[in-house]
Amino acid sequence: MQAGDDPEIGIWSTDRDCYLLLAEHAGPDTHTLETGSGVSTVLFAALGARHTCVTPAQAEADRILGYCAEKGIDTSSLTFEIGCSDDVLPRLSGGPSLDLVLIDGNHGYPTPMLDWYYAGSRLRRDGILVLDDIVLPAVAHMCAFLDRDPRFAADRRTEKWAAYRRVTDGDLRQDWFEQPFYTAPAPSGLAAVPGRALRKIRRTLPARRP
Ligand SMILES: C[S@@+](CC[C@H](N)C(=O)[O-])C[C@H]1O[C@@H](n2cnc3c(N)ncnc32)[C@H](O)[C@@H]1O
Repeated sequence: MQAGDDPEIGIWSTDRDCYLLLAEHAGPDTHTLETGSGVSTVLFAALGARHTCVTPAQAEADRILGYCAEKGIDTSSLTFEIGCSDDVLPRLSGGPSLDLVLIDGNHGYPTPMLDWYYAGSRLRRDGILVLDDIVLPAVAHMCAFLDRDPRFAADRRTEKWAAYRRVTDGDLRQDWFEQPFYTAPAPSGLAAVPGRALRKIRRTLPARRP
């Protein structure tokens, strides 16, 4: 995460190799969505993607639209949804399935998880999920989960960002017993639930939720 020369807004950006990955997967025939705005938003517009950008800052949207107008970049397929992603994404859940999702908005716990849940549920099979700033705690936690989640396959990763390919489709809702791959460490001060106790509870549960 880098702030630019304008103390009021800043110019948000990530690494060049992340933009190259976005460019591989976004184009005129694709539906894409990002949380947060910045250079990535300009890139999606320039690539002609049918792109939705969720940001709480109308000033950022105005600035991006102004920049694109100045540079002759067509923004007719760019839509800004102004608001915090936890408010906005649930009401967009009936939208078209997505080819690519970039999660780079609010990085505090649990927002990356909420962004993943709502936007990732719209990701089509073989669609690409990109998480930026993976060293930040909540994003690192999200990656640790995704590294184990069989619904996603690790695609590419640097020290700054990670990309996953979705290998299923449909919503991402699951109950805990559908996630045997997820064995979170016990919160400090609490003893871990013994594996035997978990197996006993699991035996009493249906194999799949209805
Ligand atoms: C790191 S910048 C995004 C950089 C951009 N992806 C790029 O590569 O150019 C973070 C962005 O998240 C936005 N943001 C902050 N809180 C948010 C929230 N709750 N929902 C959506 N976006 C949020 C900020 O306004 C800012 O646009």
